[in-house]
Amino acid sequence: MAQEVRGVIAPGKGEPVRVETIVVPDPGPGEAVVRIQACGVCHTDLHYKQGGISDDFPFLLGHEAAGVVESVGAGVTDVAPGDFVILNWRAVCGNCRACLRGRPWYCFNTHNAEQKMTLTDGTELSPALGIGAFAEKTLVAAGQCTKVNASVAPQVAGLLGCGVMAGIGAAINTGNVGRGDTVAVIGCGGVGDAAIAGANLAGAAKIIAVDIDDRKLAKAREMGATHTVNSKESDPVEAIRELTGGFGADVVIEAVGRPETYKQAFYARDLAGTVVLVGVPTPEMKLELPLLDVFGRGGSLKSSWYGDCLPSRDFPMLIDLHLQGRLPLDKFVTETIQLTDVEKAFERMHHGDVLRSVVVL
Ligand code: APR
Ligand code: ZN
Ligand code: ZN
Repeated sequence: MAQEVRGVIAPGKGEPVRVETIVVPDPGPGEAVVRIQACGVCHTDLHYKQGGISDDFPFLLGHEAAGVVESVGAGVTDVAPGDFVILNWRAVCGNCRACLRGRPWYCFNTHNAEQKMTLTDGTELSPALGIGAFAEKTLVAAGQCTKVNASVAPQVAGLLGCGVMAGIGAAINTGNVGRGDTVAVIGCGGVGDAAIAGANLAGAAKIIAVDIDDRKLAKAREMGATHTVNSKESDPVEAIRELTGGFGADVVIEAVGRPETYKQAFYARDLAGTVVLVGVPTPEMKLELPLLDVFGRGGSLKSSWYGDCLPSRDFPMLIDLHLQGRLPLDKFVTETIQLTDVEKAFERMHHGDVLRSVVVL
């Protein structure tokens, strides 16, 4: 039997979000219905609302979520009703060239649930990032669910579904930060702070946080930064070189997504170092570099897609590390809010005083 629950809808371009009754079908083959317990508010939800990602309104927003599997459809064996799970954007196929070569984050055949959730008048909803978790329940592909230790607080677990995983993964997966490395992180929002926590976890000897906002730098220290640079006050490339004996950092992580910070990241690394790009630029942005510098600086330049994570490998591991007190995921939760507060949370996002507002149900 389909059920009716409350969910947060973005009705049209730029219009305020509102809580509506949505219809969630029973799970079909390969699908699961999840009772959502917590879902973080991410910039991407705001971009959906503003029409910046697609025109497929109305959207059911929310995609950084954790909850309990309520029911599963035919053929689902990896998760079962009662399992505590974190949701990810898309289930991977396991069989394509990317999957078989160990890079499932580039899978060619990812999928979400096939059935649609609707409004009560039958209007089909587009779930944000194939999830739609600002809702009491949501329908996903079972492969989007990863079971983790149920003793973690749901508002902490859900964070791994997007921004925090992107940051931690940029450090530990894409950047492959190792014991004793020097690391610089440019841009200390939720993603950059998570990269700092990831670098700390991986045993970096020095972690240099760069931002233009002193409040962000103070928070970065709490996450494990050993040095901070306000790039409004001093040239970050010079500062990073000075702090690394003149060499530049072994790994530089860019978590802003702008040409000037891409350039800083490029020049702030050790000649044999790695630049990890996790900040997402806009289509019109361009970067101009002397080819001789591109040739002469060696090392590597990598972008990080969702932290190059394998949910089934990384989510349970990171939750266990958090439960052991070795990864301060709880520090990313600035406030817990209700479903009715999502619009207000979007406003607070602009002021830069929130790492994550998390809807708790
Ligand atoms: N130099 C250094 N830091 C900067 C600069 C700059 N020129 N401009 C902005 N910042 C800082 C901001 O002060 C803020 O602390 O970058 C940080 C950006 O943080 P958020 O806006 O909270 O964004 P976040 O969610 O962390 O995402 C960062 O990563 O995954 C991507 O799409 C995401 O492009 C975005 C980026
Ligand atoms: Zn695949
Ligand atoms: Zn997100």
